[in-house]
Amino acid sequence: MNYYRHHIFFCLNKRENGEDSCAQHAAQAGFDRCKSQVKAAGLAGPGGVRVNKAGCLDRCAGGPVAVVYPEGTWYTFVDESDIDEIVEHHLKGGEVVERLVLPPNVGR
Ligand code: FES
Repeated sequence: MNYYRHHIFFCLNKRENGEDSCAQHAAQAGFDRCKSQVKAAGLAGPGGVRVNKAGCLDRCAGGPVAVVYPEGTWYTFVDESDIDEIVEHHLKGGEVVERLVLPPNVGR
């Protein structure tokens, strides 16, 4: 049994050299929304869901990105409604939100 049922990591990397990064595409807002929605749904904690910050996950071209374990499902998102859908369907319901899945060939 895993300590967390789902563990989601958000890239919050910010580059200061002018190169693109997830932080320039509202990654922090996505992380904050996910954290608050998971908590509001009573999903946070052991046996439930953990929402973590991460540095660059090396899939910057699809940013902002987040990855859910143990499935290893990669997502890209635009706004709060995307995050709400990931929380409701995947983190709560265990179903992948196909329309937000990052294509496999997206890298740095
Ligand atoms: S800056 Fe977010 S994946 Fe690289």
